[in-house]
Amino acid sequence: MDIRYLGHSTFELSDGTARVLVDPFLAPNNPKAPVTADDVDPTHILVTHAHVDHLADAATVAKRTGAPTVALVETAVWLGHQGVENVSDPNLGGTVTFDWGWVKLVQALHSSTTPDGRVTYASGLVINIGGTTVYHLGDTCLFGDLRLIAERTPVDVALIPIGGHYTMDRHDAVVAAEMIGASTVIPCHYNTFPLIETDADAFKGEVESKTGSKVVVMNPGDSQSF
Ligand code: NI
Ligand code: MN
Repeated sequence: MDIRYLGHSTFELSDGTARVLVDPFLAPNNPKAPVTADDVDPTHILVTHAHVDHLADAATVAKRTGAPTVALVETAVWLGHQGVENVSDPNLGGTVTFDWGWVKLVQALHSSTTPDGRVTYASGLVINIGGTTVYHLGDTCLFGDLRLIAERTPVDVALIPIGGHYTMDRHDAVVAAEMIGASTVIPCHYNTFPLIETDADAFKGEVESKTGSKVVVMNPGDSQSF
C-alpha cells in the first residue's frame, strides 16, 4: 500500500488499483499542496469533517471524477447539494465497504460546521485498504478513547495532527501515539499556516524514544510504501 502526502491533512492511499483521496484540500486553497484539484484522479474520496481545510476541493474532484465519496451524514448532505451524486452518509460507528476494503467513522473530539452553517460532528477514519489499516485521526484533541479505537482495530499507520491551536499539539500527539501503538506514525496538520507551525523532527524524536512506533515525516508531494 502506498501513501502520498499532499500537505496539511490530505493523503492519497493506493493499493495499486484503488486511489483513495482523504480530505481533499489542494492548491491554491492549500498553500502547501503540490497539486490542484485538476491534477488528482482518485477512485474514491473520504472526508473527516466539513471544515474548509478538509473539504475545500471535495465536491469539485468528486464531480469531475465520479469517485464514490464518504462523509458523515450532514457533510454528505452538503456534498449532495453541491451536485455530488455518489455519496455514502454514515454517522459515527458506521462502516462503508468497497472492493479495496472498508472505512469506519470513529470519534474525533472537534467541531464541524458545513459551509452553509449546519453544525455537525467531526470524525476520524479507520481505513482498511489492501489488508493494511490506516487510522486518519482527522482533527481532534487528545482523548482517552484513542486507545479503545486502536484496541478495536490494530493500526498499521496512524496519521496524527500535531500542529496545535485547532487540534492537539505535538506534545499531546506523543501521548496519542503511545495510546494508538501503530507500527508507523505520520504527522500532519502542521506548518500549513503560521498558527500551526511546529517541529516535526522533535515530535519524531520524542515518539521514537517513548514508543515502539517509527515516525515518518513526509513532505508534501512525498510518496512511500507501507
Ligand atoms: Ni477542523
Ligand atoms: Mn483542520
